[in-house]
Amino acid sequence: MTQSASPQEYHPRTENKLFLVYNSVLIGEITRKKNNKYALRYYDSVTGETWFTALSIGLPKGAVRHDSDHIRWWLAALLPDRPPLLMRWRKEFGVTDLEPFELLKWVGEDIAGAFQLVRDERLDTVLKETQSLTPLSHAEIASRLAQAKADIPIKTSNGRGRFSLPGAQAKVALNRTAGEWFDPEGRTPSTHILKPAVPGYIDQDLCEFMTMTAAQLMGLVAAESAIRQFEEERAFVSKRYDRIYDSEAWIRVHQEDICQAMGRDPYFKYESQGGPGAAGVARLLRDHCSDPETDCQRFTQALIFNWLICGGDAHSRNYSLLLVRDEVRLAPLYDLNGQLAFGRPSEVDLAMSINGKFEAVSVTTRDWLAFADRLFVDAEWLAEELARQISVLPDVIATTATLPAVSESSSSMPGRYVDAVAEWCISRADV
Ligand SMILES: Nc1ncnc2c1ncn2[C@@H]1O[C@H](COP(=O)(O)OP(=O)(O)O)[C@@H](O)[C@H]1O
Ligand SMILES: [Mg+2]
Repeated sequence: MTQSASPQEYHPRTENKLFLVYNSVLIGEITRKKNNKYALRYYDSVTGETWFTALSIGLPKGAVRHDSDHIRWWLAALLPDRPPLLMRWRKEFGVTDLEPFELLKWVGEDIAGAFQLVRDERLDTVLKETQSLTPLSHAEIASRLAQAKADIPIKTSNGRGRFSLPGAQAKVALNRTAGEWFDPEGRTPSTHILKPAVPGYIDQDLCEFMTMTAAQLMGLVAAESAIRQFEEERAFVSKRYDRIYDSEAWIRVHQEDICQAMGRDPYFKYESQGGPGAAGVARLLRDHCSDPETDCQRFTQALIFNWLICGGDAHSRNYSLLLVRDEVRLAPLYDLNGQLAFGRPSEVDLAMSINGKFEAVSVTTRDWLAFADRLFVDAEWLAEELARQISVLPDVIATTATLPAVSESSSSMPGRYVDAVAEWCISRADV
């Protein structure tokens, strides 16, 4: 088959399959069967190998059969999660079927984690090609950011999408090698995620950069980030922790978000919608992580941090697991945003309740300590961590406001954010 085959030209025997490629090796396939049922097969020749991980901790290599819903939701979680954006993408690729599987035939070659989902007609090319770097100018990147803001997918020359990433916000995924920007395509993965400010929140990109940097300065493990200007477009840039440069080539590292790991419907990502809550996430970490004690503490640190910045969007899909060989770890934090930069604490509901409480203002030290058992952390450690973050965060956020990308922006948001965090932390010290 040719590379430019349209959906109508699919061969009937293979149109219901997506092949699983793991760093250039074909390791299995997902089949769409009747009535939207799905089957996953890791090929016998590789199931005993340890160099690749299962797609999900809930879709293990050794299983005789895998749960069809788990496969279906796992796939759905690879696509953006804003319905109008998905509608636009379907229109652009001529996909009328609403199943995520069908859209992934067009955008599955660069996704979150290590796998590439490849349809039959592309398989030979993806397996054989070497990594090639096509440079991108700042003008081209600016135009892609504008395209993403209009929900238009970034396509390759033969009409496929270059990447798919979850989340509701506009984003562009690019490769950055040796300080230059390149196009991701086929075997060449994206290595950075670029996000323009969220519409309606002026300088939200700066807020995300300040918050991600503050998390790192507080000793939390968070993705590396920066602010970059591409002609008239500015963007928050996050360095992908699921890509590493090794022996002169890029390697994809596996990750899945908490809904994927639990086999849950990704559209219900908030606890208030019936999605995973903090106790459930902590149980998952305790049961599956290679160093459960450390990862339950890291997750608890993130919950405290999100309370102190009023990060009301820290839902189950803004936490992921990193899967490397048979190791499972809580992934670095991403998508940290302080609503304190834009509103009052009394307006903020937490995405995950603490001791049954969603309203940020209603949570007290007593709630945190009562919740320690369900987070599988020691209450004394939690009390110390709470006190540490409350006392250190105001200075740390103030430090992030002095970073050149922020201080040179002439934005009024950083000053507001710094003041609001200081006031909120002081008020939290004696609740
Ligand atoms: N630095 C990163 N490294 C690897 N994956 C990331 C990184 N940042 C985000 N992601 C992935 O991209 C998805 C979308 O990013 P996110 O910042 O959460 O966007 P949104 O603001 O739209 O929710 C995340 O759910 C996660 O899977
Ligand atoms: Mg997100």
